Amino acid sequence: MSRLDWSSQAGRPLKGSVRIPGDKSVSHRALMLGAIAEGSSYIRGFLEGEDTRATAAVLAQLGVRIETPSTGERVVHGVGLHGLCESTKPLDCGNAGTGMRLLAGLLAGQAFDSTLVGDASLSKRPMRRVTGPLAQMGARIDTREGLPPLLIHGGQPLHGIRYELPVASAQVKSALLLAGLYATGETEIIEPHPTRDYTERMLTAFGWPISFIPGHARLTGGHALHATAVDVPADFSSAAFFLVAASIVPGSELRLPAVGLNPRRTGLLQALRLMGADITVEHPRESGGEPVGDLLVRHAPLHGIELPEALVPDMIDEFPVLFIAAAVAAGRTVIRGAAELRVKESDRIATMAAGLRALGVAIEETPDGAIIRGGSIGAGAVESLTDHRIAMSFAVAGLVATGPVRINDCRHVATSFPGFLELANGCGFRLQQVD
Ligand code: S3P
Repeated sequence: MSRLDWSSQAGRPLKGSVRIPGDKSVSHRALMLGAIAEGSSYIRGFLEGEDTRATAAVLAQLGVRIETPSTGERVVHGVGLHGLCESTKPLDCGNAGTGMRLLAGLLAGQAFDSTLVGDASLSKRPMRRVTGPLAQMGARIDTREGLPPLLIHGGQPLHGIRYELPVASAQVKSALLLAGLYATGETEIIEPHPTRDYTERMLTAFGWPISFIPGHARLTGGHALHATAVDVPADFSSAAFFLVAASIVPGSELRLPAVGLNPRRTGLLQALRLMGADITVEHPRESGGEPVGDLLVRHAPLHGIELPEALVPDMIDEFPVLFIAAAVAAGRTVIRGAAELRVKESDRIATMAAGLRALGVAIEETPDGAIIRGGSIGAGAVESLTDHRIAMSFAVAGLVATGPVRINDCRHVATSFPGFLELANGCGFRLQQVD
């Protein structure tokens, strides 16, 4: 993939309604459960991102027929729990940690071998957090010293375990639950802090018995999944860029319709409100078993906060853009308890600190967070290190910077947010590709 740089600069107030693409976490799971269900599942609102398309391609390689009736729709013709076929070629998860970790759980229980590979960024991300507990369940998975590729040996009988997660991770929880479908006995997961429960909710929708409450999930193997329709809400993590953008640009007023508001995802909403943001949820409702609502965000002066640590897991993907809000807010923002940011698509604490410093913002990095002194954002050039959320966060920073912000290497934005540039420019950003 060739390099792609952006330049973002101050424009007019942000106005209008922005239709945010589908949720990445839900789209991955809908494909995977649809693939091993009996019957054909219809997915509406599917994220046409590179990450989720990579998962679809992997499942196709494993013998699952997936149709695309139109953009944002998929029909997954399930092959049943034991109907996947061996792929002679490696399975490429692209940039997607969710794809690789969940597939590791799903493939650990198959009769055949599989090799999961990823791009340069994914190849640096820790996998022992899934391969360790999967091994306790009886799986055999070889790694390159804990990193991808993953060579998953098939034909290993799995048994359920009781596992207390050392870090809050929905990916690890979900991998173990998917392996648990193929295990004898009970798989029980206990989390140090509740994480997004899409796997649990979706297993229920596909008819697999599972009991779960926040922080705790239990299921047994040996049932069947039955095809269903999945309505994917708009991704709160993608909406986050517009929530911060409209909050910091004077005169802005944006509407974001039908955004997923699962409480395990909306920590940023609470954090921004603590900072003084003016965000209203209109028409709260349920869609496809998930809470959704239309978000109305208006400009408001922000002030720094000590971010409550309890919010961290509920906004784990939103820190890059929170850093931008903090850089604009009056006073100091202190972030602690977020060491997980160091093992995302990039080390998000270091990448954001380097970028903000390059724009003249005073930021002190700590092992598990940062202290940011708000004020003004200057012009300059920053590195996204191919991290999609870093790139979009600095596009937001450009809206209030004293001059253009050049963001180097934005080619991965389409992993989670295809069409970001066009949608952003449509509501008032001045964001362009540069040579
Ligand atoms: C995800 C879980 C989170 C999140 C990622 C998506 C999921 O990762 O950062 O973008 O879909 O389960 P961790 O499980 O590593 O926290």
